[in-house]
Amino acid sequence: MIIAANFKTNHTRKSTREFVSRVDEYAKKIGSSVEARIYPVATALDNFEIDEHIKVGAQNFYPTCTGSFTGEIGFEQLQEFGVDSVLVGHSERRHVLKEGSELIVEKFNFAKEKGVEILYCVGEPKEVREAGIDAVMTYVWEQFSGIDLEYERLVVAYEPVWAIGTGLTASYEDIKEVLEKLRAKIRKPLLYGGSVKLDNVSEILDIENCDGVLVGTASWKTETFIEMIKTAQNKGD
Ligand code: PGA
Repeated sequence: MIIAANFKTNHTRKSTREFVSRVDEYAKKIGSSVEARIYPVATALDNFEIDEHIKVGAQNFYPTCTGSFTGEIGFEQLQEFGVDSVLVGHSERRHVLKEGSELIVEKFNFAKEKGVEILYCVGEPKEVREAGIDAVMTYVWEQFSGIDLEYERLVVAYEPVWAIGTGLTASYEDIKEVLEKLRAKIRKPLLYGGSVKLDNVSEILDIENCDGVLVGTASWKTETFIEMIKTAQNKGD
């Protein structure tokens, strides 16, 4: 099972270091087999010496090693910190930062070429959800166009846009239905994301075809994130 924390634009270098070290300590103490992922802000990346089941990854990068892309971070900079996992296609990059599908596919292919784990995010906006499941799946499959579903280190996160950071979680039935349809074509781990909290994480992890969660807001508190790892570990996976 995968429990991933997306810090977005929160935490400092110092608090990230504390967070990572507490998660690491806990994972070692219980001999956790849960795959924990932590995506801090880029300025907090570092060479963390941590348990093999934990990775500190990048929320974003520009699809280049080096070059003239003012304000961007390339792979040479990520590799300095041993980054081996990246987020691609997060809804905030798509909708708030206006990243188009062409750039997203370019990022995916670049990261794939580098051989790192890619946590690829998809999800529909509210009006699409209101139009029903067929509209949702058409929208979501469109987000996979140009994406290699056979990439060995692909992890998919289904995150309805209207559920992200809003406190509104998709219903268990809706999550189950989408994951089942994704599973028909995708053999890689499938995560759910969108207002995952301590009081719903256990039920979400129990959903068929759900291999983990991508958590924003609720993950920013160390205790909560650790509790989520514990919940997943107790499921004996
Ligand atoms: P949220 O964010 O848990 O705050 O809804 C999820 C995400 O953006 O991955």
